Amino acid sequence: MELEKPEVLIDEDSVRQRIAELGKEISDFYKNTHFTVIAVSNGATLFVADLIRKIDIPLHLDTVMAYSYAGTESSGQVSLLSNLKLEIAGRDILLVDDILDTGRTLTKIVEFLHTRKPKSVRTCVLLDKPSRRAVDIKADYVGFTVPDVFVVGYGLDYNEYYRNLPYVGKIRSKDSV
Ligand code: IMP
Ligand code: MG
Repeated sequence: MELEKPEVLIDEDSVRQRIAELGKEISDFYKNTHFTVIAVSNGATLFVADLIRKIDIPLHLDTVMAYSYAGTESSGQVSLLSNLKLEIAGRDILLVDDILDTGRTLTKIVEFLHTRKPKSVRTCVLLDKPSRRAVDIKADYVGFTVPDVFVVGYGLDYNEYYRNLPYVGKIRSKDSV
């Protein structure tokens, strides 16, 4: 099978450098707290793996799963599958996702996390596409702001493909897979 080769938007080195900066900021902020990182699977798995290796304070790690996209269009409906295994009551949570687009996914997960009575919930995304926001939410940590193009790679998919690219790229056609 042939896939369209994405145009590089953010190269591997830039991603690595920015993640090191974020790791440092996050380490400084959460020092001496009861810190839990929660990644949104599957998209944030590569990002969180690299990010936590740049965080040098003690932490817990867990995941939740969310689905909204079919192809390049958000369905507008977010399905959240909570498979949280850890107790988060009283803990300081950093929710990590690949991209903040309409904002529906993170909003829904943040609301869900609050029902478990954490001490605080903040958010961190590798990419922010502010032009597409449908609900009022800002991430506390943003790797890069991107224009309104469909991005793939470094965890982000198009119909489940491209997650394994080591860089963030953009694809042209919706019919490429
Ligand atoms: P939101 O709920 O619209 O903010 O969408 C967030 C989710 O949609 C992300 O976790 C991604 O999985 C997916 N998504 C949004 N924009 C893109 C994109 O440009 N490429 C790939 N996935 C995207
Ligand atoms: Mg996703």
